[in-house]
Amino acid sequence: MVTNSVGQDIRMAVDRVAFATELGVEPDQWQEELLRSSADRVLLNCSRQSGKSTMSAVMALHRALYHPRSLILCLAPTLRQSQELFGKIAGFYRDLGRPVAPQGERKLSLELENGSRIITLPGSEKTIRGFSGATLLLVDEASRVDDELYYAIRPMLAVSGGSLMMLSTPYGKRGVFFEEWTGSHAWERYEVPASQCPRISEAFLDEERADLPPFIYRQEYECSFEETEDQVFTIELIDRAVTDEVEPLFRAVG
Ligand SMILES: Nc1ncnc2c1ncn2[C@@H]1O[C@H](COP(=O)(O)OP(=O)(O)OP(=O)(O)O)[C@@H](O)[C@H]1O
Ligand SMILES: [Mg+2]
Repeated sequence: MVTNSVGQDIRMAVDRVAFATELGVEPDQWQEELLRSSADRVLLNCSRQSGKSTMSAVMALHRALYHPRSLILCLAPTLRQSQELFGKIAGFYRDLGRPVAPQGERKLSLELENGSRIITLPGSEKTIRGFSGATLLLVDEASRVDDELYYAIRPMLAVSGGSLMMLSTPYGKRGVFFEEWTGSHAWERYEVPASQCPRISEAFLDEERADLPPFIYRQEYECSFEETEDQVFTIELIDRAVTDEVEPLFRAVG
């Protein structure tokens, strides 16, 4: 349990880097830039394991604690990913000794006494409808959420004047994340290849480079939107053909 003096609390309110440090996250350079930024449209194109979800959790919790009556929606492509993200947020919140008492802590949402709410949702257009007035919208693994979701959230922001941050490892030359990353709209953009992450070693990357198909390596670790010319099927076609939501009709017996 951390007991903060008023002075310390004010410092954390105005300085998200100090807040992250209090949570035990010594920010990497790009993380520090992000935490110091006041941009309200942010795209992060980052390597796997660079700390995207950690940053989402820090930003969400900071907003909730220090801006009363905030509604923060955190979206991720699947239920498992949104649970994971919520786990990080709730973990940080516990680490702080719950400085603002929770009013209700349902599995994927946190309601604070100051009227702020953090809600994590698996990202489909259907889950987002019904929420309005979000002041911060975070989309984790944005390259893998449905485009319809993006089109559903834009009008919400128009009314609330809220901020939007999409963080992702690339996933082909497709979808809103790719379009916006390469488009001309005014986003603050961050590109973070694995080589800029101090926790990912050269030796590990050498191993991955040797083991993975080159286009996968570039996608996962070098922020590259891949669609190789020698690929017969585009990533989109493969995606449409493969789903893990349907039980196979026949199972191998043996
Ligand atoms: N600044 C930091 N200092 C120390 N550890 C960090 C920092 N940022 C992230 N981490 C740690 O690095 C690991 C990966 O972080 P995180 O899950 O946020 O990355 P990610 O980019 O979301 O990964 P993935 O691509 O797998 O979703 C976690 O164990 C996290 O605690
Ligand atoms: Mg993540």
